[in-house]
Amino acid sequence: MQSINRFLYGPTPDEKVRAWQTKLRAEQRTLDREMRQLETATNKARQTVKQLASKGDVKSARILAREVVRSNRQKDRLSVSKARLGSIGNQLSQQMAMVKVTGSLQKSIEIMKLSNQLVRLPQISQTMREMSMEMTKAGILEEMMDDTLAVEDDEELEEEADAEVDKVLFDITNGKLGQAGSVQTELPVPIEWEEVSVAPILKNGKTVIPDIAINSVKKNTVALKVGKGHVSLNLTLRRTFNLFANVRPCVSIKGFKTPYDDVDTVLIRENTEGEYSGIEHEIVDGVVQSIKLITWDASERVARYAFHYAQSQGRKRVTAVHKANIMKMSDGMFLSACRQVSKDFPGIAYDEDLLDRVCLHITQNPAPFADRVMVMPNLYGDILSDMCAGLIGGLGLTPSGNIGRDASIFEAVHGSAPDIAGKGLANPTALLLSSLMMLRHMNLTPYADKIEKAALGTIAEGKSITGDLGGKASTQEYTAAIIEKLSRA
Ligand SMILES: NC(=O)c1ccc[n+]([C@@H]2O[C@H](COP(=O)([O-])OP(=O)(O)OC[C@H]3O[C@@H](n4cnc5c(N)ncnc54)[C@H](O)[C@@H]3O)[C@@H](O)[C@H]2O)c1
Repeated sequence: MQSINRFLYGPTPDEKVRAWQTKLRAEQRTLDREMRQLETATNKARQTVKQLASKGDVKSARILAREVVRSNRQKDRLSVSKARLGSIGNQLSQQMAMVKVTGSLQKSIEIMKLSNQLVRLPQISQTMREMSMEMTKAGILEEMMDDTLAVEDDEELEEEADAEVDKVLFDITNGKLGQAGSVQTELPVPIEWEEVSVAPILKNGKTVIPDIAINSVKKNTVALKVGKGHVSLNLTLRRTFNLFANVRPCVSIKGFKTPYDDVDTVLIRENTEGEYSGIEHEIVDGVVQSIKLITWDASERVARYAFHYAQSQGRKRVTAVHKANIMKMSDGMFLSACRQVSKDFPGIAYDEDLLDRVCLHITQNPAPFADRVMVMPNLYGDILSDMCAGLIGGLGLTPSGNIGRDASIFEAVHGSAPDIAGKGLANPTALLLSSLMMLRHMNLTPYADKIEKAALGTIAEGKSITGDLGGKASTQEYTAAIIEKLSRA
C-alpha cells in the first residue's frame, strides 16, 4: 500500500526531509575533509616559515605567513559554513516534528537565509541550489531573495591582512619576526559598548525581543547580557542566534570557604533543543504531550565544540552525561554523535556517565572531575550546572557563555533576581566572570586575567563581600573594592 502511494504521490514530507538531511551530512563531510587538508597544509607552511626565519629569509617567510593567514580564514569560512549546514539540518528536524503536530511543513525564513549564504560557497553551491529549489517547491522557502546574501569583500580583507601576517609571523617564529600585535593591558579595556534592552515588547500581538537588540547582536556578534529584574526571552535569544553550546565553568574561589575546596568543573550544555524545544500540546483533556527533540546535527555540533574546548583548555577527557538507559533513542543518539566525534580527537579520552551517578559522585568528591569537560543535553546541563554552582558558593559566582554560529552571548548562570532587584544586594561576580569569559573569547585575555585577580582577591580577603557570601557589603561597595584593587595592580 505504502509503495503504491509513493508511486502515485511521490515521497512523503518525512522522506523528503530525511533525504535532504542525508545530503546535508554528505556536504558537511566534504567540508570536514577540506578543513583537514587545509590544516595539514597550514601546519607544513608554519614549519617552513620557521625554517625560513632561522635562515634569515624574511621575504619568503612573509609570503608564506600570508598564505597561513589566508588558510586560517578559509578554515574559518568552511567551519562557519559547516555549522550553517548543521543548522539547516536542525531546522529541518524541527520541521519534521511540526509535521507530526500540524500535518504540514512550515515556511522557514531561517532556512532561506542560511541556504542563500551557503549558495556562495563553491564547494557546496550546486547542492544548495538544488536543495533551495526543492524546498521552494515544497513550500518551505519563499523565492530566493538576493538581498539576504552576505557580502564578503575579499579586497577589504586583504587590506586588513598585514597586521595579521605580522602577528602570525611573530607567533610562528617565537618573536623573531613580525610583531606581537597591539594588545596592551592598560585599563580601560578597549571595548566600545552599545547598550540595548532585551526586555520583551509586544509586536503584532506577540511578545518578542526588540529589533534594535537583535540587530545590535547581529552586528557586533559578541554580547554581555545583564539581568535587571525583568523577564528575559532567553530561549528566544538562544534560538534567534543559534547559540548552540552553553559553557558553564565552576571553580572554587581560593580563600572563600565552602564544604568543597577543589571544584573545577566545566559543563557544556546543548542549548537549542531537548526538553526545551517548546513543542507541547494537549492531546485530549487532561493529557499533555511535551516533545524532547534530539537531533544528530545539534548533538554532533555541541559534542565537537566540547572536544575543541577540552583541547584548547588542556583538559584531557570529555564525558558525555546522559540517561540513555531510560531514553534509549534520544539520549542514545546524543551518545552516538559524541562517540563519532571522539574519533576525530584521538588525544582526548572519551567516556560516558549517567546523570544521577555524576550528581552523586561530584557531591561526594568533585576533584576527579577537574580533568574533563562534561557535555550533555539541555535539561541535564541546566540542572547539573546549578548543582555545581552550589558547590562553590552559589549562583552569585557562576559565569556562562552561550556560543553560537552567528554570535556569542555571555551571561551569569542566575536569572534576573527580581526579588532583590534595585536593593544593592546582588553579587555581581557571576556577571563579572561572564564578562571575563567574553574578553577571553575576544582574545583580550591579559585584561581578563588582571580583572579576575582583583575580583577573586577581593573575595578571598573577605572584607567587602556581599550578603550571599556571608558579608555585609552592598553591590556598590564590593565593586568599589575590586576597582580599588585594580587601580593598585
Ligand atoms: N539564564 C537566564 O537568563 C535565567 C536563568 C534563571 C532564571 N531566569 C529568569 O530570571 C527570572 C527570575 O528567576 P528566578 O528567581 O527563578 O531565578 P534567579 O536566578 O533570578 O534567582 C534565584 C535566587 O537566587 C538569588 N540570586 C540570583 N542571582 C543572585 C546574585 N547575583 N546575587 C545574589 N543572589 C542572587 C535571587 O535573589 C533568588 O533568591 C525569571 O524570569 C527566570 O525565567 C533567567
